[in-house]
Amino acid sequence: MTLLVTGGAGFIGSNFVLDWLADPAAEPIVNLDALTYAGNRQNLAALARDARHVFVHGDITDRALLDRLLAEHRPRAVLHFAAESHVDRSIHGPGAFIRTNVEGTSTLLEAARAHWSGLDGNARAAFRFHHVSTDEVYGSLSPDAPAFTETHPYEPNSPYSASKAASDHLVRAWHHTYGLPVLTTNCSNNYGPYHFPEKLIPLMIVNALAGKPLPLYGDGLQVRDWLYVGDHCSAIRTVLARGRPGEVYNVGGWNEKTNREIVHTVCALLDELRPDPAGPHARLITHVKDRPGHDRRYAIDARKIERELGWRPAETFDTGIRKTVQWYLDHADWVAGVQSGSYRDWVATNYAAR
Ligand code: NAD
Ligand code: TYD
Repeated sequence: MTLLVTGGAGFIGSNFVLDWLADPAAEPIVNLDALTYAGNRQNLAALARDARHVFVHGDITDRALLDRLLAEHRPRAVLHFAAESHVDRSIHGPGAFIRTNVEGTSTLLEAARAHWSGLDGNARAAFRFHHVSTDEVYGSLSPDAPAFTETHPYEPNSPYSASKAASDHLVRAWHHTYGLPVLTTNCSNNYGPYHFPEKLIPLMIVNALAGKPLPLYGDGLQVRDWLYVGDHCSAIRTVLARGRPGEVYNVGGWNEKTNREIVHTVCALLDELRPDPAGPHARLITHVKDRPGHDRRYAIDARKIERELGWRPAETFDTGIRKTVQWYLDHADWVAGVQSGSYRDWVATNYAAR
């Protein structure tokens, strides 16, 4: 028995692969990743001598490669993490998001359908296609609106969320039309180890450590529902094991915070763990021009996954953010390694005009 994971060199995918293989009895993983700027084999260094981890450098739009991997490894499930994932990049260049998130997902669905159709009896009944998606497909909430349930209308506002919404619709249709046994999880903002420092929390940590400005978009009062990445991985394992095919499960941390609160918390932790002789890290907070079309608030109602499958997050925000800041302090080499020329080009593109 094997799992095919896509995007397992990225932030959440690599956390999932590491968590999964931490169990000595766990099934092997074939990890297909195109190693875009967001993919990093260093995240998987601990598995270098683990024969249960087979890394394949390749693209989910490559149907021939997908067919070959499915025929060779005969996975019992596909876990689909691969995506272009950063809203600001989608504003600067939506094409890659359409290609990977829409075309890539449809290519993967077709390859999985062909594989699943050829399975017999029990293997066919047990097969799962797990699609990892986001709460951003539901759009933006007003301050006192109830949190997103699984039946909330789709109202994506950015090229990223529109491309993820399209992929969710394809997954749904492949179940409805062909009977492919799919599972979809729509998760809120994750944070934790191996988070690429283009996203809010790791960007603030690495900039604060370097004494650089901490750029808060607009008034900084946008709200996100933050979930520690290890909890997202445990939710995916739970849904894979016990979720009902064709169902959608929202995954969240019951933890709504404004960006301003997040950045102040990161600064306070750094003041405690790595004090800066020049003064409190919060002195570096700088309000910059807002993101176009910026969604004001996301919040997840995670009662369905708790009621049906018994999943709840294990970390509070206090425990998760402390672990995360400590991880970045302990992994200066990883941070230096991802701040390549292309990372610096992106920072210049996104922040120079703000
Ligand atoms: P990420 O950007 O860190 O990693 C994406 C990975 O996919 C990278 O390793 C990249 O190399 C790979 N990839 C990109 N295009 C590919 C292609 N065409 N073929 C094969 N591999 C390709 O993203 P992440 O934050 O780990 O997100 C993983 C998934 O979870 C995504 O589907 C995202 O939409 C979803 N999600 C993310 C969050 C979050 O807070 N980060 C929240 C909810 C859902
Ligand atoms: P981000 O980590 O990009 O995730 P998403 O847009 O998918 O929610 O951003 C989280 C929030 O932080 C979002 O409201 C935008 C804001 N933000 C900043 O204020 N400054 C920044 O430099 C970045 C990258 C994000």
